[in-house]
Amino acid sequence: MHPNIEVEVAGLVLRSPLMVASGVLGSSGSLIRLVSTNPYVGAVVTKTVTYRPRTGFENPTVVDLGYGLLNAMGLPNPGYSNYRVELESVRRGLEIPLIVSIGPSDENEAEEMVKELDNVSDGFEVNLSCPHVENLGIEVGADASRVRGIVKAVRGSTGKPVLVKISPNVTDFVTNARTAVEAGADAITAINTVRGMAIDVNAMRPILSNIYGGLSGKAVHPVAVRIVFELYEKIKKPVVGCGGVYDWRGAVELILAGATAVQVGSAIAHSQSGLKVFNEIGEGVRRYLSLKGFSSVKQIVGLAHLEH
Ligand code: FUM
Repeated sequence: MHPNIEVEVAGLVLRSPLMVASGVLGSSGSLIRLVSTNPYVGAVVTKTVTYRPRTGFENPTVVDLGYGLLNAMGLPNPGYSNYRVELESVRRGLEIPLIVSIGPSDENEAEEMVKELDNVSDGFEVNLSCPHVENLGIEVGADASRVRGIVKAVRGSTGKPVLVKISPNVTDFVTNARTAVEAGADAITAINTVRGMAIDVNAMRPILSNIYGGLSGKAVHPVAVRIVFELYEKIKKPVVGCGGVYDWRGAVELILAGATAVQVGSAIAHSQSGLKVFNEIGEGVRRYLSLKGFSSVKQIVGLAHLEH
């Protein structure tokens, strides 16, 4: 048996449930094109673009803790109108959906960005969860009225799928996700990074130039599993799982918790084999399905909620 690993997320058909998470490839068009040739990559989410270009924070912006990465890049990006030019050529001939990650600070920015980027994207992921940039990300995402306003503006400006990436750094992520869904989100991506910091004990100083950063990688995987599991029961829209997927087991865990698709981020940076990590995970998921007697990955979405 050769199980089918095609999935559908908010109307987008993905040849594989594995997506490239936002941020990990930077804003490089050539890397997007390269990763899209891997048969186990179902979609790519771009680096988050903002209304204005941002240079990002000074180095150090990333610390490798072994069990995860702590980063505070500061959302460096060329700004949506410059990025549009790059995306136009990237999307031409791309075999998989290109999801553009946007980080608006209000509804006017959201509307302008989405209208301008609409014909260079197959969908949007609204980043309302970056944990360390002033007046963007979580500062917006923790305020229900701003979430409502922005998601409504995005919804009203495109007919394409709208995903909203939520944060684990809020007291009530379910209400947060529900607000996004009520405002028109087609799916929720969970989770963005967990706010943290690291201190250099020799220098006796915080390591990151921004002091605080966001933790991703293996350490956050159980947090992602739990949040996906809860969201699957509490919201009536697909959930895209994201957080510490390094191998097939991590991907399957998120799918059993309720994720329709799974994003891979830090593993790309950590893996010895680079982008081949997608083959390792994808082939592993197929082997698992075969072994368990399933013909399609869709059959196992949310199965951890049932009595067996
Ligand atoms: O600093 C950054 O660029 C991180 C972005 C994010 O976590 O969304």
